Amino acid sequence: MTRVTTHSLRAQKAAGDKICMLTAYDATFARLLDDSGIDILLVGDSLGMVIQGHDTTLPVTMEDIIYHCRAVVRGTRRAQVVGDMPFMSYQESIEQGVRNAGRLMKEGGCHAVKLEGGAQHAALVARMTATGIPVMGHIGLTPQSVHQFGGFKVQGKGADAVAKLTADARALEEAGAYAIVLEGIPAEVAREVTAALTIPTIGIGAGVGCDGQVLVIYDLLGMDERFKPKFVRRYANLATTIREATGRYVADVKGGAFPADAESFLRDKDAGAPTPLYSSGKK
Ligand code: KIV
Repeated sequence: MTRVTTHSLRAQKAAGDKICMLTAYDATFARLLDDSGIDILLVGDSLGMVIQGHDTTLPVTMEDIIYHCRAVVRGTRRAQVVGDMPFMSYQESIEQGVRNAGRLMKEGGCHAVKLEGGAQHAALVARMTATGIPVMGHIGLTPQSVHQFGGFKVQGKGADAVAKLTADARALEEAGAYAIVLEGIPAEVAREVTAALTIPTIGIGAGVGCDGQVLVIYDLLGMDERFKPKFVRRYANLATTIREATGRYVADVKGGAFPADAESFLRDKDAGAPTPLYSSGKK
């Protein structure tokens, strides 16, 4: 199976073939999403919120992203795996950014990195690209700046903001970024920015005019009823499914209905038998 690359993604934009990206944090989800034809799996610092339970992405560390990248890479055969640069892993200096991006690729095994910010990081993106590290940009509502924005608020409103977003996107493209996430900006602004670039844009809360879309997998699957931003479409309601299934399990265990006799196959006569209890299922 051929892996999605920076080149194939650019060809998708040229052909008008929409790019499908989701977040993933473990090998099992990665395998299922890879099977469904997802082009890019992002090991996002959103893991700080959906996996670790923080209110923001700020506490996420390099070690966290590396750990989850390794798991996701093991689960994929086709999707490009992108490792998210955590807060303060690249903001100090170009050297720090290049070193940490290199760690995500060497230790995490990902195929590209993503960082938040526009023109202010152009020199860093240029150095990373020159070093052979593919970089995805991320502008608009950049969650690592949540405290500067005063909350997770729509960005890119007003003529100045639109001009700045376009300038940021162009600066990233010129520096060598191969794609840019546009988050939380008006649809017409995202369309304008997309038209101004030769590299693909991937939108989240940025309308249909982008070259692709990205969502946090837990949002798409409806894992948290408390969290439903306007731009999220839930394709399942797994919160209910999981609670119902585990509730039935609890009732069965307490009532003695699980395990059933046929499921209690480890009898005295089997003890010490060479038959494996289970296998990984991998070929
Ligand atoms: O961390 C993340 O999951 C992201 C996406 C929402 C783009 O940055």
